[in-house]
Amino acid sequence: MREVSVHLHRDFAIGEADRRLFGAFVEHLGRCIYGGIFEPGHASADGHGFRQDVLALVRELAPTIMRYPGGNFVSGYNWEDGVGPVENRPRRLDLAWLSTETNRFGTNEFVDWCRLAGIEPMLAVNLGTRGADAARNLVEYCNHPGGTALSDLRRNHGWEQPHGIRFWCLGNEMDGPWQMESKTAETYGRIAAEAAKMMRWVDPTIELAICGSSGRNMPTFGRWEETVLEHAFDHVEHISLHTYINNYAGDTAAFLASPDLMDRFIEEVVAVADAVAARRRSSKRIWLSFDEWNVWYRTRRNQETRTKPGWPAAPPILEEVYDVEDALVFGGMCIALLNHADRVKTACLAQLVNVIAPIMTETGGPAWRQSIFWPFAHFSNFGRGRVLRAQIDAPTYTATYYDPRGAQDLYFPLPRVPYLKFAAVHEEQARLLTLFALNRSLTDEMPVRVSAEGYSKLEVEQALQLCDPDLNATNTRTRPDRVKPSALKRVRAQGTELHATLMPASWNVIRLKV
Ligand code: AHR
Repeated sequence: MREVSVHLHRDFAIGEADRRLFGAFVEHLGRCIYGGIFEPGHASADGHGFRQDVLALVRELAPTIMRYPGGNFVSGYNWEDGVGPVENRPRRLDLAWLSTETNRFGTNEFVDWCRLAGIEPMLAVNLGTRGADAARNLVEYCNHPGGTALSDLRRNHGWEQPHGIRFWCLGNEMDGPWQMESKTAETYGRIAAEAAKMMRWVDPTIELAICGSSGRNMPTFGRWEETVLEHAFDHVEHISLHTYINNYAGDTAAFLASPDLMDRFIEEVVAVADAVAARRRSSKRIWLSFDEWNVWYRTRRNQETRTKPGWPAAPPILEEVYDVEDALVFGGMCIALLNHADRVKTACLAQLVNVIAPIMTETGGPAWRQSIFWPFAHFSNFGRGRVLRAQIDAPTYTATYYDPRGAQDLYFPLPRVPYLKFAAVHEEQARLLTLFALNRSLTDEMPVRVSAEGYSKLEVEQALQLCDPDLNATNTRTRPDRVKPSALKRVRAQGTELHATLMPASWNVIRLKV
C-alpha cells in the first residue's frame, strides 16, 4: 500500500472529549448483575456481595458513567421492588428476557457499587408499563435530601445522604416493537416531555436524555427524532442513539468498514436535532447520548441464545464471545465516537460483564478480559482530552454492509472507505498526543506519515498494536490472555513527524510526548 498521510495542527480541534464519552451499561439481563458484578458467596466478594476480581478489571477498563437498570428490562421494572429489606423484595417475571427477577440487587446497591468503582451512576426510568408519576417518585427517592415520604424512605433504607443522580434516561428504545409498551413517536414524545418536566420540578439539577431511534435501520428513523424533539425540545438536554454492528454476512472487509455508518448516524441525528432547533430559532443544541453501542450478532437473533426455557433467574444468555476481528471493528467505533466529541457527550458500551461484554466471569470461578476489552481500555484511558481534526489522505475501498431488520434484508453501500480510520487526542496537562489508528486492509501493511504542526518535537512514549494472524482468535477461561496487545515496533518520531508501519488488520495506539 502507498504511504498514508495524516495532517494535524495543535490548534485545529473537533472538541474536548466529555468525561461521559467513556461510559458502559449494566442491565438486569442474564448474568450481567447476578454472577457478574454481584455474587455474594463468591471467593472475591466483599461484604456487599460485589466481586472484587470484576471490580479490579472494571477499574482497568476505566468506564466513567454506568447506565442502569436497562435496556429492555427497564420498560417493565417497578423500582420500588428493588429497594428496602432484601427479604421483603418480590420475585417477578421479567418479560424482556423471559427470566425471573429476584430483586436482590436494586437502585441503592447499584449506586453503592458505582461509588466503590469511582463511576457516575446513570438511571433509566420506566416509560413503558409505567410513566411520569413513577419516574418523578424515583427522582424524589434518590435525590431529595429528606423530610418527604419518599426521601425519608431512602433514609430508612439506610442511605441517609441523597444519591445526587445527575443523568436520567427517559425510557429505553421506545420505538421498538420488542419493547414492553412501545409507543408511536407522537405518544412517546408527549409522555417523555411530561415526565421530564415533572422529574426536573423535583430536582432542577438533573439532565435528561430522550429516546432516539434504537438503530439507524429502524423504519421510523429520522421522523422519530424529529417528532419526539418537537414535543420535548425544551425539556431535554440529550437524545439517545443505539448501534450494534454485525458480521452476519461473513464479509470482514464490510464489517471493518461499518463503523463509518456510525459516523453517518451521528451526523444525521445532529442534522435532525439542529433542524428542530432552527424551526424554533433556538440556539440551544441537543447533545447526543450514544448510550448503547457494541458489536453484537452471534447471540442476537437466535431465540435459544436470547432466552432459556422455564423462567430461570440470571440465565447465561447473550454471552457473546468476541474475537480479534470484533475488537478491530469495536476500535473503529471508538474512533467514530472520538471524532464526534463536539456533539456526542455521552456514550455507553453495552454492556459491562458477561452480556455482550468486555469482561467475562464464571459463576463461582474466575473473571477474564475479552478481546474488545483492549480497545475500550485504550479509548478510555488515553482518549481524554482535546480531539484534533485530522486531514487524511489514504487509499479507499468499497463495501456493502448487511444489516437485516426483522425478516427484511437491508444493504448499506459504503462507496469510499479509507483503509485508515484514525483519531488524535491531545491531553494538555500530561503533554501527550495519542493517535488511534485502525488499518482496515486485510492484506497490506500500511506505511503512515503523521505531521503534527504546532508542536515543537514529538517523542514516542508508548506504542501498542492489537493484531493476530488468526482473526477469529478469542480469550477463554483456560486461555484468558490469548488475545492481547503487543508492542508496535516500527514507529519513529522525527521533529514534528511520525512514521509508522501498521500491520494488516490492526488496531494501533501511539502515545507521543509533546
Ligand atoms: O443491550 C441489550 C439490549 O439491546 C438492551 O436491553 C436493549 O436496549 C437493546 O435492544
